[in-house]
Amino acid sequence: MKLGVGKSDSRITNDNNSIKRKEKRDPCTTQNKFLVNNGEKITVNQILEMKKRNEKAAFVTGYDYSNALIFDRAGVDGILVGDSAAMVMLGYNSTAPIEMQDMLIFCNAVSRAVRRALIIGDMPFGSYQSSVAEAVHNAALFIKAGCDAVKIECGTRIEQLIRSIVAAGIPVMGHIGFTPQTASLWNSNKIHGKTIDSALQLLEQARELEKAGAFSLVLEMVTDEVASLISQDVSIPTIGIGSGVNCDGQILVAHDLLGLYKGIQFSFVKRYAHLYETIFDAVSLYKKDIKEKKFPQDTNSFHMDKNELRMLLKKMKLKRKRGE
Ligand code: KIV
Repeated sequence: MKLGVGKSDSRITNDNNSIKRKEKRDPCTTQNKFLVNNGEKITVNQILEMKKRNEKAAFVTGYDYSNALIFDRAGVDGILVGDSAAMVMLGYNSTAPIEMQDMLIFCNAVSRAVRRALIIGDMPFGSYQSSVAEAVHNAALFIKAGCDAVKIECGTRIEQLIRSIVAAGIPVMGHIGFTPQTASLWNSNKIHGKTIDSALQLLEQARELEKAGAFSLVLEMVTDEVASLISQDVSIPTIGIGSGVNCDGQILVAHDLLGLYKGIQFSFVKRYAHLYETIFDAVSLYKKDIKEKKFPQDTNSFHMDKNELRMLLKKMKLKRKRGE
């Protein structure tokens, strides 16, 4: 049961001294109803089914209530509460510093907004490496925070860990290729699958993760050719980011596709909006309006009853006279 989202969203407006609720039609319950899977929650099995019918899965990252609600109503299949939150939400210059408690706050917020999309919580650096028991415990915390699955960046010998989390009933998405949590520590290559050795290693990793029970695989910055080979080789869907056109689905960091993050800009990103500029212009105009006394106006104000005001002024005058 998701909290905080009713059948329709409402806006509070101030109109002639009264607080009015304006019902706003929610596309999920009206015109888009049949386009978005009849309002049903997407499951891990449905993501697997998509691969079988050659339907591309659309994933995006999400971290907060307001944006997750929009992404969900726009009909994406999955929202990854990525540890990229460390950079785009918290301002760190890598993903490594983010902690479990930070991730759980983002997951809780997203889960309050989402009705349909599969929610995947990204296990942060340090939350799954020290012991299998701790990894299972932390994975369970993601489920308690409203996620449907967890994602783990996979180095070598991670299969036992995946097996244990899956055995606890928690679906796992693997993540191979460029794995940002540790890549900067080892100064590893960003693009994977350029050589025979690298291709064979990725293929082996993908097979092992499938065998361990992962339900899907993020392929990050893997060459198109190798991503294509992996996608044909494993039965679980591959979700690409900078990995070409042949993956079974795609994911982008929301701030990148929305043009909101002014940090690193990757060539594989397609910008669908330029929100940095839009927000910059809006806030600049807001500031200018305040300075020029154009905002707020009378329509943005609440008023006292005239009689009440008259009596108040009288009372204040009297008090002043009495020196109170
Ligand atoms: O944290 C994240 O946003 C990710 C995606 C880049 C796949 O792991």
